[in-house]
Amino acid sequence: MNKKKATIYNILFLAVSAAILIFLWMAPPETTAKIPYDENHKAFYDMPKKEAEKKCQQCHSKEGGMPLPKDHPPKYRCLFCHKKSERRP
Ligand code: HEC
Ligand code: HEC
Repeated sequence: MNKKKATIYNILFLAVSAAILIFLWMAPPETTAKIPYDENHKAFYDMPKKEAEKKCQQCHSKEGGMPLPKDHPPKYRCLFCHKKSERRP
């Protein structure tokens, strides 16, 4: 490979890297509702995820009075989709 070609490949490589970075940076933020940091949910923030998930449906169910929306996706593993929000003291 002569020098000129190598330079072109280097520039191409940089351009592709930049494009990928920009693409990732522009990706929309996650929109799934975060778990509020409030009296109801605070306790779950310091719990292992699997432990916490067992308790969500005490409230978030028909019996608990706060059913999930009808079009809610499969609800196995709540915390996989509903992330913790920024902790507010
Ligand atoms: C003690 C009852 C209770 C428990 C247990 C509980 N929640 Fe909630 N949750 C609520 C109430 C009340 C609201 C609505 C008011 C609010 O925003 O706090 C709510 C709201 C939410 C919302 C919606 C926030 C929004 O933006 O609309 C999410 C997501 C949520 N809870 C996830 C969870 C997850 C995940 C768990 C288990 C780790 C859980 N909750 C356990 C009572 C509970
Ligand atoms: C596969 C991903 C996924 C899983 C797992 C999941 N959810 Fe959701 N949940 C969503 C999406 C998507 C919505 C509707 C869009 C949104 O939140 O803005 C939603 C909505 C909700 C809402 C209503 C939020 C609002 O703003 O009205 C509550 C409460 C909730 N989920 C609780 C739970 C609980 C409790 C569990 C576990 C039993 C759970 N979710 C598991 C993706 C998920």
